[in-house]
Amino acid sequence: MNVLVLGSGGREHALAWKINESKLLTKLFVAPGNAGTASFATNLNVNVNDFDTIKKVVLENNISLVVVGPEDPLVNGICDFFLADKELKNVGIIGPQRDGAELEGSKEFSKKFMIKHNIPTAQYQSFTAATLDNGLTFLETLSPPYVLKADGLAAGKGVVILDNLNEAKNELTEMLSNKKFGEASAKVVIEEFLSGIELSVFVLTDGNSYKILPAAKDYKRIGEGDTGLNTGGMGAISPVPFADENFLSKVEEQVVKPTIEGLKKENINYKGFIFIGLMNNNGNPFVIEYNVRMGDPETEVVIPRIESDLLDLFYGVATQTLHEKEIKINPQTATTVMLVSGGYPEAYEKGKMITGLENIEESTIFHAGTTIKDNQVVTNGGRVIAVTSFGNSLEEALEKSFKNAEKIQFEKKYYRKDIGQDLLAYKN
Ligand code: AMP
Ligand code: GLY
Repeated sequence: MNVLVLGSGGREHALAWKINESKLLTKLFVAPGNAGTASFATNLNVNVNDFDTIKKVVLENNISLVVVGPEDPLVNGICDFFLADKELKNVGIIGPQRDGAELEGSKEFSKKFMIKHNIPTAQYQSFTAATLDNGLTFLETLSPPYVLKADGLAAGKGVVILDNLNEAKNELTEMLSNKKFGEASAKVVIEEFLSGIELSVFVLTDGNSYKILPAAKDYKRIGEGDTGLNTGGMGAISPVPFADENFLSKVEEQVVKPTIEGLKKENINYKGFIFIGLMNNNGNPFVIEYNVRMGDPETEVVIPRIESDLLDLFYGVATQTLHEKEIKINPQTATTVMLVSGGYPEAYEKGKMITGLENIEESTIFHAGTTIKDNQVVTNGGRVIAVTSFGNSLEEALEKSFKNAEKIQFEKKYYRKDIGQDLLAYKN
């Protein structure tokens, strides 16, 4: 079958790379893709939110399965667009419709969903500009730190955690009255602070059955020791040493099963990935957030650990036969280290020549923000390249990722040298 992957990051390179191994694949397209995907697939210069042009290329290229990488087109209703179109309705599409995408698109919706279906999460209340005064009074009843979340999509910046009551009150006012995050903060969720250590669990579902994919931990801050500004993610590891069998079985029973059942009860026909952000609080899982897509850079460690044919699993999702499929996971540890442009996540330059890619040994390179200019691979984003490696231990995998991270050069390259270091203490 012909397949189209939508997106241009490391996540999409990793998904396309795995699909490219499938015996079921005839021709692979990525839109818009990057220099990495161009080396084995056909890149199509189409924006992921331009549904009319996506329709045109799907029909022109006889594509029968579309894998949606980022959340934007999902929240904008790309799956609803396919289902409502006579010529597209039989094309398989991996991702939820708009109703399911609300799990990520609205914090309030996802909190209500969790409370209704008894899924462990922080207690919360939500407020609008009309109820600002109640919100300010509510803050006074809480103890710090204060967690404020813009209801809608805010490019990963909508969560603010503050230690000081006055700062929290100011922030709430900024969000609600002054629309700090535009329409996304027309509503704000205030929730109880959860302590513990974070990890993410990924689920693939066809709406009836599900497969749990490997868990991963990412490193969100720009600076070593988890300091500085938030980024899309600076590295990831899988499996997560502190998520033992006992904890993961609690995740399945208390979170995954009620989530899938809850979606069914709400008549949400969900076909795609569910990314569950969790806090491990004294061995008990609490859901911090849902995303309706894979994580980036988590995909760059989760997908390589899947030994089964990913396209066959996707086919199972599209045809609701996922229960017939087996999923086999590589027990080794995978690590990824993200090379970023100097200045990221604030202003940075693009178009820097990337060298040394031909010298990589024992790692797989996933391009996150690259393009080809005058036959040269150049930087084209804040996050540039993810270096993924396998090892029989976390140390072994990390050593390979760091060694190869050194070999790749571009002006003002930066990466965190402490990825995974906090977890070495957990090793058995
Ligand atoms: P979110 O966008 O909801 O994932 O939140 C971004 C980050 O804020 C999370 O990855 C956590 O580190 C932190 N966070 C969110 N909610 C809470 C909470 N209730 N308690 C503690 N930390 C939180
Ligand atoms: N790495 C976090 C995310 O993809 O949202």
